[in-house]
Amino acid sequence: MILVTGGAGFIGSNFVLGWLARGGDPVINLDKLTYAGNPGNLVDVADDPRHVFVRGDIADRALMAQLLREHRPRAIVNFAAESHVDRSIDGPGEFIQTNVVGTFHLLEEVRRYWQNLAEPERGHFRLLHVSTDEVYGSLGLGDPAFSESTAYAPNSPYSASKAASDHLLRAYHHTFGLPTLTSNCSNNYGPRQFPEKLIPLMIHNALRGKNLPVYGDGANVRDWVYVKDHCDAIEVVLNRGRAGQTYNIGGNVEKTNLEVVHALCDLLAELRPGRDYRSLIAFVKDRPGHDRRYAIDGTKIATELDWHPRESFSSGLRKTVEWYLANQPWVNNVTSGDYQQWVARNYTARTAA
Ligand code: NAD
Ligand code: TYD
Repeated sequence: MILVTGGAGFIGSNFVLGWLARGGDPVINLDKLTYAGNPGNLVDVADDPRHVFVRGDIADRALMAQLLREHRPRAIVNFAAESHVDRSIDGPGEFIQTNVVGTFHLLEEVRRYWQNLAEPERGHFRLLHVSTDEVYGSLGLGDPAFSESTAYAPNSPYSASKAASDHLLRAYHHTFGLPTLTSNCSNNYGPRQFPEKLIPLMIHNALRGKNLPVYGDGANVRDWVYVKDHCDAIEVVLNRGRAGQTYNIGGNVEKTNLEVVHALCDLLAELRPGRDYRSLIAFVKDRPGHDRRYAIDGTKIATELDWHPRESFSSGLRKTVEWYLANQPWVNNVTSGDYQQWVARNYTARTAA
């Protein structure tokens, strides 16, 4: 049995579905079901007795203690987080509450549980914390990519809150010996990503003939990894990573935002012809504190754990666009209600750049 937190979100649900499809151990899935959590992401395992869904907060100590006592997981994978940079600028409070305070409460209950385990369970136990490359800050175009020894320099409330949680993991390993693992991954894309993030937002707007809002000059660079590759990497780190270590995960795909949006427009022109998608591109007011470039040096996970991304950007992007085209009811469901208010708040004030 493993415990997954945040398993109704984008990456967590892809992880749970892939894990169970490959015949993995039963999963307890704890998720608060914030705006980003969606039980509809888990319909494929709704009748699978190996999947138990629990609605709850990682900061709820009593609930966490009860789940650990009753289910005695051999491992925990912590995806639960507030995850969108623009929302962290709009309102950082929830980011501090879940990403920092929530991770602290989770760590305290896990420490208590782990300290009372008998061998061999105690020796085999792992807590894997899923984090981001954004903790390393921003690179210049000629700078070397982020490695595991790059100094933390977070710039947004989101990345600062994730950096704080990573530091807590580090301290619980160093001080208490808790067998932690931390993975720092670059930008994910693929099925079931909430349409507030760049790629699904652009697909969503393009299909409706709405503007494609590119922040600033569109030359900010991100490394992109297909979500299923990221989930495979997490499984590899969980099974074979060394306790107390951190692993960077990337897709070897550095693209400017404009390159990504152009690629999406061209794919849509092929798969849903009839509109000049590129003409919808609108340069809008930049994100405050917008990090210029992220890039991952994946040497450690490649040499130590023999993990390499399998998907190329063009194959991954095609699968992603095809998934969104085939799953418009999913999109319509998650974009009703609160989503409209978020779009109004984030984009209305961004006049043309
Ligand atoms: P997401 O926003 O799609 O999903 C987060 C999930 O966590 C949601 O289901 C939400 O309901 C749940 N959640 C939020 N607060 C909670 C709480 N207090 N208790 C329990 N559940 C809670 O995020 P995602 O994109 O799937 O990201 C998952 C993890 O991966 C995050 O920790 C994020 O920082 C990290 N990450 C994401 C990316 C990316 O590109 N999306 C890249 C690197 C790392
Ligand atoms: P995002 O998907 O929010 O991920 P992150 O900020 O965590 O990297 O954004 C990816 C890039 O796309 C980032 O440089 C900001 C940019 N962006 C836009 O240009 N327009 C948008 O509407 C959004 C949501 C993002």
